[in-house]
Amino acid sequence: MADEWRASDNLADGGANDAESEWRPVGIDISTPSIARVYDAVLGGKDNYPVDRAIAEASLAIVPEIGDVGRFNRAVLGRGVRFMAEQGIRQFLDLGSGLPTVQNTHQVAQAHSADAKVVYVDKDPIVLAHGRALLAENDRTTVVTADLRDPEAVLGHPDVRALIDFDQPIGLMLVGVVHHLNDDEGPLAIVEAYKKALPPGSYLFLTHFCASSPDAVALEKALLTDLGSGRFRTLEEITAYFDDFDLVEPGVVYLPQWRPEEPIGDELTVGQRLMAGGIAAKPTA
Ligand SMILES: C[S@@+](CC[C@H](N)C(=O)[O-])C[C@H]1O[C@@H](n2cnc3c(N)ncnc32)[C@H](O)[C@@H]1O
Repeated sequence: MADEWRASDNLADGGANDAESEWRPVGIDISTPSIARVYDAVLGGKDNYPVDRAIAEASLAIVPEIGDVGRFNRAVLGRGVRFMAEQGIRQFLDLGSGLPTVQNTHQVAQAHSADAKVVYVDKDPIVLAHGRALLAENDRTTVVTADLRDPEAVLGHPDVRALIDFDQPIGLMLVGVVHHLNDDEGPLAIVEAYKKALPPGSYLFLTHFCASSPDAVALEKALLTDLGSGRFRTLEEITAYFDDFDLVEPGVVYLPQWRPEEPIGDELTVGQRLMAGGIAAKPTA
């Protein structure tokens, strides 16, 4: 039933007509904001509700470039997946993948190599509902609903095992998601558990909100307090996730600086410094 669509079934008002008569999948709670839907609202998508848009608008009031920040992240996702595909990676595990939008991982990877396989993992069931429609005829891509804070469950999931061969190099993606984890949830240990499961020659691709300015601190409060969890981290803290792996050039940098395809100015704006990330390879010895 989760992928069936119906109007006026608002969990918030017990089924009364939603003021905006919006359509949504049965079983999706629209009274509580969802990270995936807030991000969709920031990117200008249509798969979001008033409760999500309120957070997106509060973020916009603090950092007017917030839409650009989402687009920088999607753009670097495309550049990063292409980079890994060019290194020979043919299987991608995309954790915290979000709602389908532009430049989805499988589209970038399969444009490079039609045989590339992609497993999307997200804890929000709305991602599965939308992903099913997008992937109906793509047997090299699947969506799994799971919580990445449980690496054992994710790595042992039958749908993950069915598509990903853990004896062949993998592109592990944690793009725009680790900042949703609290320190007491052990984000470093969680990322480490995934890194450990990768064969040599695999890559870790991680991007993260960065505590790079007073505006970033204000945004962190608006964005993550309302969404219930997480923390913006410093460049040093973000770099620590790549520990023991070999960072590819240019290392951990603000997203527009990661292998840009167009010239960028010397002075980055607050928005351009809001997220940082990089890609690193698992050493062969
Ligand atoms: C900001 S979106 C990023 C989407 C995409 N990776 C990108 O960078 O464009 C973060 C996604 O991570 C998901 N997420 C957050 N915490 C998660 C968890 N513990 N396990 C799995 N997914 C999670 C959210 O549901 C959301 O879809």
